[in-house]
Amino acid sequence: MNKRAELLEQAAFWMPFTANRQFKKSPRLLARAEGMHYWTPDGRQVLDGTSGLWCVNAGHCRPKIVEAVRRQVGEMDFAPTFNMGHPIAFEFAERLARIAPPGFSRIFFTNSGSESADTALKIALAYHRARGEAGRYRLIGRERGYHGVNFGGMAVGGITNNKKMFGPGVAGVDHIRHTHDPVRNSFSRNQPKYGAEFADELERLCALHDPSTIAAVIVEPVAGSAGVLVPPVGYLERLREICTKHGILLIFDEVITGFGRLGKPFGAQHFGVMPDIFTTAKGLTNATVPMGAVFVENKIYEAFMQGGEGIEIFHGYTYSGHPVACAAGIATMDVFEEEGLLTRAASLAKYWEDGAHAFKGMPHVIDVRNCGLMAAIELEPRAGQPAKRAYEVFTKAFEAGVLIRVTGDTIALSPPLIVEKAQIDRIFECVASMLRSVP
Ligand SMILES: Cc1ncc(COP(=O)(O)O)c(C=O)c1O
Repeated sequence: MNKRAELLEQAAFWMPFTANRQFKKSPRLLARAEGMHYWTPDGRQVLDGTSGLWCVNAGHCRPKIVEAVRRQVGEMDFAPTFNMGHPIAFEFAERLARIAPPGFSRIFFTNSGSESADTALKIALAYHRARGEAGRYRLIGRERGYHGVNFGGMAVGGITNNKKMFGPGVAGVDHIRHTHDPVRNSFSRNQPKYGAEFADELERLCALHDPSTIAAVIVEPVAGSAGVLVPPVGYLERLREICTKHGILLIFDEVITGFGRLGKPFGAQHFGVMPDIFTTAKGLTNATVPMGAVFVENKIYEAFMQGGEGIEIFHGYTYSGHPVACAAGIATMDVFEEEGLLTRAASLAKYWEDGAHAFKGMPHVIDVRNCGLMAAIELEPRAGQPAKRAYEVFTKAFEAGVLIRVTGDTIALSPPLIVEKAQIDRIFECVASMLRSVP
């Protein structure tokens, strides 16, 4: 056993969402990154088909972002934002408000997507209370939804494995059904035709619980982690309508769909449906420094600014608006703007879609889904060995020099938004060739 392998097997690092024993026996390590590529410690180049983890939207190690971080660390490493401020946090919030849909000019900073989800849920509860409707305490999520791993996001999330080990969670949570309907919609290009009526489940929950007890509904515009589930035509509109009718806040979790993934700055703009609150993280700083941000519609912020003076919301993180993260974020917005990256996915979407749907009819493929620069290729599970086939494709693709992501038996692809057509071809060719090679 060589030194590195020995080190890994005894490794102190308890890896997240990873089969630790299996990984440490046969590790896949990345040591360097630039643009569309990673390099392994032994110098092998790997094309990034997943933007790291749906987050490096502008590609890796962009000099402008690296330089901004370097400069900021040297100038002011940290400053508190509780009853203190620093200009860079105000400046970054202003930059974000500029690309947000009209009316979303208030931004609360967090450090991750999970914290953004919990922050959004707490803001929703406190908003109703501030308006004299403290009886609205229920939070509604959706089956197969992913909103991170903290207690609030876990509770409204709908992925069984992420919840089953951790007790009963938060009280007053319910779920509407997911939108996946392979019988009617498999191999849909972009938004599937059927299923707008799945939004009516919310009416059922309103009838069951009484709408006056429901504070908010949270959904991802496109469910990412559960395997790229694109909302059926008319579905988000219907959710919006029902929420408005009953005074329920609609929260979009845009941690993946934010910052250009669908060809507009945010999914809300892509689908033309406005939530009341939306959460972000990942692409916000191009993942260079961890950070999240919750965008709230002005009426929500204003509801907190009534009444006597004093702290309006007893919530925040030591690192909310961390200066180094803000510096990374401002430089990220510069790169997005200079290179048109917040809309570039729109011009590549058709090419991407055609490449993804060429998998129809290939071995093991039972569905293909796509939206913007996201795609899922779903495989038939091997009998008695769920997720095994996709995992083999993933490991073989990595050995062949392409990083993909798998969730269950679904291959999820989401390259950095700087991807060139030839690189799209390479990603799909590699996956196709690995698919042919696995039993
Ligand atoms: C939609 C969505 N929400 C929340 C999160 C959690 O983000 P984080 O891992 O930064 O806490 C993720 C992560 O993938 C996500 O996809």
